[in-house]
Amino acid sequence: PRVAILISGRGSNMMSLIEAAAAPDFPAEIAVVISNRPDAHGLARAQAANIPTRMVDHKAHADRASFDTALHAVLVEEQIDLVCLAGFMRLLTGPFVENWRGRMINIHPALLPSFKGLHTHERALAEGVRIHGCTVHFVTPEMDVGPILMQAAVPVLDTDTPDTLGARVLAQEHVIYPAALRLVVERRAMLREGRVVIDEFML
Ligand code: GRF
Repeated sequence: PRVAILISGRGSNMMSLIEAAAAPDFPAEIAVVISNRPDAHGLARAQAANIPTRMVDHKAHADRASFDTALHAVLVEEQIDLVCLAGFMRLLTGPFVENWRGRMINIHPALLPSFKGLHTHERALAEGVRIHGCTVHFVTPEMDVGPILMQAAVPVLDTDTPDTLGARVLAQEHVIYPAALRLVVERRAMLREGRVVIDEFML
């Protein structure tokens, strides 16, 4: 299978996927990295890893629908089977998401369904939760809501700042995102009637 990674920024999760996929036994190929921002740091990192990159600049499109149409065209042109959102900061329209249903996953820096949206580490600290973490989920039209594939939890320490907590979570993101991608590619996890079914025997 051919995987596309969509980014908007620094691309550390993208790198964790590229590095995992470089292993000879990894069952998928990172075929392309697509950014919606020309200045995304991740672009240079992908190029340095010899992964082809494409740009679909949202500023060149009048509205979300035309941006999504252009993005879809690139994915089709690149013969993509599976899409990984990795710090991709654009909301995708319903028709686009529908086209990729069961074939598009995202990583979110919180234990969903808690802390959807932005600034998750600040909010976790403000709420005083003792456990925080990250979630890989299938993408559905509503943001940060899709069926959950994998999660990792980390402790919240009294001394934490958003940065120290975020770094602890990010280290786990880099572990579970490649693992979740593998599950989906090997069809050991799939979307069935809106829920994730995981073949536990093969974990
Ligand atoms: C990560 O925290 C990810 O969970 C969130 O955006 C951030 C992207 O970081 N969706 P990076 O670009 O992968 O370094």
